[in-house]
Amino acid sequence: MARQRVLTGITTTGTPHLGNYVGAIRPAIEASHSDSVDSFLFLADYHALIKSQDPARVRQSSKEIAATWLALGLDPDETIFYRQSDIPEIPELTWVLCCNAAKGLMNRAHAYKAAVQDNVDAGNDPDLAVTMGLFSYPVLMAADILMFNATKIPVGKDQIQHVEMARDIAQRFNHNFADVFTLPEAVVGDDAAVLLGLDGRKMSKSYNNTIPLFDTEKKLRKAINKINTNLLEPGQPKDPDDSTVFQLWSAFASPAETQRMRADFINGIAWGEAKKQLFELINSELADARLRYTQLMDDPGYIESVLEKGAQRARQHSEPLMKKVREAIGIGPIL
Ligand code: TRP
Repeated sequence: MARQRVLTGITTTGTPHLGNYVGAIRPAIEASHSDSVDSFLFLADYHALIKSQDPARVRQSSKEIAATWLALGLDPDETIFYRQSDIPEIPELTWVLCCNAAKGLMNRAHAYKAAVQDNVDAGNDPDLAVTMGLFSYPVLMAADILMFNATKIPVGKDQIQHVEMARDIAQRFNHNFADVFTLPEAVVGDDAAVLLGLDGRKMSKSYNNTIPLFDTEKKLRKAINKINTNLLEPGQPKDPDDSTVFQLWSAFASPAETQRMRADFINGIAWGEAKKQLFELINSELADARLRYTQLMDDPGYIESVLEKGAQRARQHSEPLMKKVREAIGIGPIL
């Protein structure tokens, strides 16, 4: 079987939180150490423009996300780690793909449809504040993926549709011109990796219920203390399967420690005690990385040099691919 090529992007609009860590960062870093895959990881800063018109926020987020991945052990010799905007072939390919993507296909994209629906529900013009960026977002994402002939795309459930669209667009291009693109497939992590937030819903920036990944130890403790629980007293049995505290515990503990905590819940452990143990567990997994994160945030020149090297390596793939695309579509020197 051909080598798998795993690629994923992170939109640079936020600060990574514990849900990102458990759901995406930790599994991706583990997978990147495997010898049998080539891995590509990038900061999707052009995607950030779709959600944010705040330059300071986009810049800060790029720095925080890069520092987070490096602090958690991403090895830039193993993984091609780059910034989308350093690869000029990506916007170039986006245009070519735009001309091969059916508008009707884009009409069906969830993010765009949701924005239109919100407008309709509010009695506004359906297109109010809908940019061409939001509408064409799946095409930019297709260019990210197809540029590197990626085969496996680890994403959250909300992104499966976009990977399928990339596949559709690739097929259409290959059919119309030449067999240039590899067809990608989405890989979705298991549900257990979807962490719950302070209020018991999925941990997400949009719900404002996140626990910080690399804020201070004090803030981590404070956030854990804020997790919603019920009013059961110490000594009263508690249902582990209905508890955010227990869910978080199992995301960090060994199977044996998870069993032990399950028994403690049934035996009525106090919420305060369970949270104290949870803090200690999470903090012990993150403490060293937090220190590295702080050092990296103080050394932007180093982060920049890593990303620039990554871009050079990425362009060794994107330049020849773009050349092939131009040849296939009849753009280029007069011969
Ligand atoms: N749109 C993705 C998200 O919001 C991020 C992303 C951009 C991406 N380009 C990608 C993910 C290419 C996988 C592959 O999560």
